[in-house]
Amino acid sequence: MQRETELEIGDRVRDLIERGPTPATTGFTELDPSVYTDPTRHAQELALIAASPVAALASSELPAPGDFVTLRLAGVPIIVTRDRSGVVHAMRNACAHRGATVETRASGSARIFSCGFHAWSYELDGTLRSVSDATLFSTEPCTQGLRRLGCEERHGIIWVTPDADAEPRSVAEWLGADVDELFGQLGLGEMVHFATTEYDLVCNWKLLTDGFMEIYHLKYLHRDSIAPYFPANLIAMDRFGSHFGGWLPKNRLVKELAERPRDDWEVLRHLTGAFVLVPGTVVQWQAGHVELFSLRPHPNDPTRTVARLTMMVPAERFDATELWQRNWERVCATIPAEDFAAAVEVQANIDAGAVDTIRLGANECLIGEHVAAVGERMRRSSAPPAPASPRERTRADSLVP
Ligand code: FES
Ligand SMILES: [Fe+2]
Repeated sequence: MQRETELEIGDRVRDLIERGPTPATTGFTELDPSVYTDPTRHAQELALIAASPVAALASSELPAPGDFVTLRLAGVPIIVTRDRSGVVHAMRNACAHRGATVETRASGSARIFSCGFHAWSYELDGTLRSVSDATLFSTEPCTQGLRRLGCEERHGIIWVTPDADAEPRSVAEWLGADVDELFGQLGLGEMVHFATTEYDLVCNWKLLTDGFMEIYHLKYLHRDSIAPYFPANLIAMDRFGSHFGGWLPKNRLVKELAERPRDDWEVLRHLTGAFVLVPGTVVQWQAGHVELFSLRPHPNDPTRTVARLTMMVPAERFDATELWQRNWERVCATIPAEDFAAAVEVQANIDAGAVDTIRLGANECLIGEHVAAVGERMRRSSAPPAPASPRERTRADSLVP
């Protein structure tokens, strides 16, 4: 990261500390819990997710030509491949003949894909290679391959747009200039896959993002895990168009800003950054490595989500295995066991009809803004695209009581 950008983040955190608590100036916001259960809203959100770039996997999960992974995004069965020239592709994992699953393995290496039903075969980019007994099939040559999906590598991540009919859109444009530049400066593109795990959770996907939108819960829910490392309720938030980003200093940074001259500050070493990308991807910068959360809603059930957690670490420090393993164990012991568990508990109470309304304090307002941003994106996706503004950043810093 450019030194000046790092120091500016330090300045913002120091200003927050000096300014002191900002009490709420308005009453709390009420949120209707149906946003976590309504099937019509869920279908619209799913369509929005399907039409957006989704973090499918780390680039380094397909290290060699011929490598592939199969997965489901927004309910769509997908093969992601790297071809012989190193370019990544994504296509529907549904045969152009009669719709069978073409590749049934979860991952592996292939020269071609061959459907188990009648052996039609496909190239690594989904192009139709051969039709078995072609003269029996048709007098006209069939050329239809697997349906191609938007697929792009950027910032060390393979992003796939699950809707084959979606307007093609670059990841840089979707992220916006500020987030794209920030991810570049944080060196995400030089990070490689360390570990992945998946959780099949009984809760709406937005209850999972909510945990990244406020730190009110940090000193209570995480009392016995990470709370001792962070000051309570201190976060510098940005809105980047529809996306959100927050910087959480650790206690060591608060001390450093107070005791060392500005030129000596090591801001990034003691900082967590959480970027909630609408809809459904969370990138968490953890003082040198990255945790990527890809939230994959169930195609029909608003109260089910698969959360895929991937840890990416700097390629040049990949050999520090013990350090990364400790970090991996810490994240698995905190976010799934505490944040995700709380989300599942809230969902169960909503489903039981025990929650009439959700009350959001000033320090949780971004949860309501996230719900609104998803709604706004849904409205915009059904309207003609507005001209993109190159910089859409607004600040929403808070140090709340
Ligand atoms: S369904 Fe795939 S070859 Fe027939
Ligand atoms: Fe949390």
